Amino acid sequence: MVAKALEGIRVVDMTHVQAGPVCTQLLAWMGADVIKIEQPGKGDVTRSQLRDVPDVDSLYFTMLNSNKRSLELNMKAEEDKKVFENLLRSSDVLVENFGPGVLDRMGYTWERVQEINPRLIFASLKGFGPGPLQDAKAYENIAQATGGGMSTTGFPDGPPVVAGAQIGDSGNAVHLFGAICAALFQRTHTNRGQRVQISMRGGILNLCRVKIRDHQRLEHGPLNEYPQDEFGDFTPRAGNASGGGQPGWCLKTAGGGENDYLYLVIQPQVWKPLCKTIGREELIEDPEYATPEARLPHLVEIFAMIEEWTQTRSKWDAFKELNEAGVPCGPVYSTKDIVEDEGLWNEGMLAKVDHPERGEYTTVGCPFTLSDTPVEITRSPLLGEHNEEIRAELAGKSSELETANTAG
Ligand code: COA
Repeated sequence: MVAKALEGIRVVDMTHVQAGPVCTQLLAWMGADVIKIEQPGKGDVTRSQLRDVPDVDSLYFTMLNSNKRSLELNMKAEEDKKVFENLLRSSDVLVENFGPGVLDRMGYTWERVQEINPRLIFASLKGFGPGPLQDAKAYENIAQATGGGMSTTGFPDGPPVVAGAQIGDSGNAVHLFGAICAALFQRTHTNRGQRVQISMRGGILNLCRVKIRDHQRLEHGPLNEYPQDEFGDFTPRAGNASGGGQPGWCLKTAGGGENDYLYLVIQPQVWKPLCKTIGREELIEDPEYATPEARLPHLVEIFAMIEEWTQTRSKWDAFKELNEAGVPCGPVYSTKDIVEDEGLWNEGMLAKVDHPERGEYTTVGCPFTLSDTPVEITRSPLLGEHNEEIRAELAGKSSELETANTAG
């Protein structure tokens, strides 16, 4: 009986910055032994980026690299490449998100990796898939720009906007995690590794699926769920409209602060309780408003009426009252609201971790739970912290193999 979902799986982690490390952190939380390979004396560039405390690993690094071990290897030196190959022989997964061609230049093509260990799953995340852009480097917002995220985010009369949620990096890390787990499962049948590849742009497009739905719906007429009346030949920015099956909008609440807003969705079945809660019972049976179809041309006006009510209470009180009436809604949380939210701490979505150089810091927990795999967040490793330990383990493995060969 294994204690965690991925116990016994060893991951050679050649990831850096955000997308790759978030994926391997998920693998580590699921119980895999994740060994982060880092350039000697330098390590992942994020160790020293956005530092808030001098000479100490940044929050950028520590929050994305929990539960891993760190091994320094110079991938341009023959001696260290031997150690790396030994590691590949005793591992299950290799994950990397270097720029295009970097692993090939180091000598580790898919063919070579298969020769070293045919059971190894070789996973790569790049900016773009095969084609004209395949050699281009990419960062979060480039993926959002090229995958349909930016052109569909923001208000119709403003410029394209990037999402604050890091859907290109952390979002794609989750895609990559799922793909690696699927490959691990397939290996249980085939006993073979396979090549896993993901493009950040493709991952964004996957998250923009409904915007391509709307692009095609435009051929058959205007998008009545969107706030604008006139449409071109592409899905426009919808501001805060849900644009989906149920209309929604972001409403001002009392306080007038930057984040004193509540997002509210009008499901057909909540029309009556919603009208009652905001004191507009006369609209319940009014034929201009009584059905979802009748309401569509009045959405701006309807949300303005609801806002008159929400502006008279705090986002928390409005949320409570509307929730009691079964109306789906949610207060807009600032980051301060988030870190002070007791529920998120109780859920384990926020956790405190101790670090030998930084002291205690807050980190974000695992976004899913498995009843048989409790997640315990441990700190990120110092650069090269596990050099001796891992080299000794590998030496032990080599002599085990030698003994087995001699005995055979
Ligand atoms: N030992 C020796 N050299 C090492 C090393 C090690 N342990 N680890 C990395 N390097 C070297 C590589 O060999 C490479 O050098 P080379 O170009 O001479 O072959 C270099 O460090 C890393 O190259 P690259 O990954 O291209 O880094 P970059 O800083 O130029 O670009 C990105 C950074 C993020 C733009 C690029 O890695 C990328 O496009 N990645 C794919 C998409 C992605 O993940 N984007 C970011 C998401 S957060």
